[in-house]
Amino acid sequence: MARKQETKTTTKKKTPAKRTTKKAVAEVKAPEVTVEEPKAEAVEEVKEEPKAEAVKEEVVEEPKYEAPPTSRRSVAFIGSECYPFVKTGGLGDVMYALPKALVKQNCDVKVIIPRYKCIPWKYQEKMVYRGSFQMNLCEDGRSFYVGIMEYVWDGVVYDFIDNEEFFSDGNPYTNLIDDIPKYCYFAKAALAALNYMNWVPDIIHCHDWQAALVPVYLRTLFENTKLTSAKTILTIHNLRFQGIYNIPTIRYWSGLPDYVFNKDALKVSYNDANMLKGGLTYANVITTVSHTYAGEIQTGYYGETLDAHLRYHSGKLRGILNGIDYDIWNTATDTRLYENYDLTNVLEKKRENKRRLQEELGLVQDDHKFVIGLISRLTNQKGLDLINAILPQIIDGNTQVVVLGTGDDIYENSFRYYENAYKGNVCSNIMYDETRAHRIYAGADAFLVPSQFEPCGLTQLIAMHYGTIPIVRETGGLKDTVEPYNVFYNSGNGFTFDRYESGLLLDAINRAKTLYFTDRWRWDEMLQRDMNKDFSWDSSAKQYKDLYLELTW
Ligand code: ADP
Ligand code: GLC
Repeated sequence: MARKQETKTTTKKKTPAKRTTKKAVAEVKAPEVTVEEPKAEAVEEVKEEPKAEAVKEEVVEEPKYEAPPTSRRSVAFIGSECYPFVKTGGLGDVMYALPKALVKQNCDVKVIIPRYKCIPWKYQEKMVYRGSFQMNLCEDGRSFYVGIMEYVWDGVVYDFIDNEEFFSDGNPYTNLIDDIPKYCYFAKAALAALNYMNWVPDIIHCHDWQAALVPVYLRTLFENTKLTSAKTILTIHNLRFQGIYNIPTIRYWSGLPDYVFNKDALKVSYNDANMLKGGLTYANVITTVSHTYAGEIQTGYYGETLDAHLRYHSGKLRGILNGIDYDIWNTATDTRLYENYDLTNVLEKKRENKRRLQEELGLVQDDHKFVIGLISRLTNQKGLDLINAILPQIIDGNTQVVVLGTGDDIYENSFRYYENAYKGNVCSNIMYDETRAHRIYAGADAFLVPSQFEPCGLTQLIAMHYGTIPIVRETGGLKDTVEPYNVFYNSGNGFTFDRYESGLLLDAINRAKTLYFTDRWRWDEMLQRDMNKDFSWDSSAKQYKDLYLELTW
């Protein structure tokens, strides 16, 4: 591993911190609560809180309502990406939207992420230097610079861990050889930064393998620090990625004691260490992003070789569904749309959005064509093999397909091929583009998510919220959020299929087309039903808050 030793001793000028979060916690933190206090009552009390006022509590000294002081909790979110600073998929969305929703649930939230060089300058320039120190990291005591840059926004404090050697690549993730040391460093630096800032949260909420060593560090190298009082939660957003490398490398970079490299914790196969597995062992609670996925990952098919480990820890595993941020995803105010709309004018305005989308993408402009959207990372998780197998059968003269995504060459190239083969009816946008994504969600009639596995999936939620009918495979969060259309009861939210077979996907698409072309009244009713459904973070953030309370009474 050819990494130069970090010896940076930057002497940046210390700017006075705008807000001393520690103080904020101290002001509102509850007096010690006895264990006997009935939990149910406390939860009841939270329910009664007027949400809008809960936000005010941070600034108003004397709250006007009867807020139960015991219900406030402080939480440190630790993860590898966060919208709008850096996002490659749904993890970035959740790291942004959930903390914001938790602030409304009477939580004090700090989000800790790496300060990647690719974070746009408009955010970098607003960050305030909060301090820096040297941290021992490796087995041989090699130390590295840790800088903390802070940015406060919408009631959430963002602390960026600064180290140019680890975070100067164009992308957050490059290859495991670089990513393993990067996220060993990040996990330890996040805890060291909390210590440095003297901020001891009630809960440390970690996300995916990149932050999975946090609970391991907390219960080993940090066990004699103030932070040990914190409870840890590890959320699995995608079990496929685990951070596996040989034991000597991970032992060297993490500096973790030998005893964590055993079969109960990090060790897997003959001589490998699995960072996610270690985190699952040491975390107080494991969550994942839908109820169905929580069950699936305990099976051999979906368990990505960790199913037995997850079954062993099933007592502390639960599923909490993601939501979407209603400020960003709001058809009535979304400035990226050609035409804004709401339930009162959706049918007319969606037609206009479709027309303009067809125009912008060089598709045949025709209101009567059935436009199917697909916005996705182009990887085999997303069921793209099924789509590739049947695309010629989908394009029947009445149908158009719009793809937006980047990823594996094989999928990028096959979508480029189909665009050429069906010019005017297939448009493949091989790129990452937020504006285009918003316009496709609004302009398409239907939206494809035929995933092989899908922990939660946000795209089907956004599509429904934008009045676009999802066609999905019944797996993970797709199963939990898309109720199949029932022709007899005229109920449901979309079209679904179960086994991972291209014929079944084609059948689901054909059922959707049949309704669209032969019973538009019912199609329109369904899209209005979808727009009306609650996919906001409110209920899920409440479940996380209840979990925090449960862990810290
Ligand atoms: P995953 O996290 O597995 O990629 P999700 O459905 O949870 O899947 O979230 C994907 C998120 O990334 C959504 O917000 C989606 O709109 C966005 N997204 C994916 N690909 C693109 C792209 N090429 N351009 C813009 N947004 C994209
Ligand atoms: C992952 C999953 C996706 C989920 C997202 C946010 O990337 O693939 O299903 O919605 O994380 O939790």
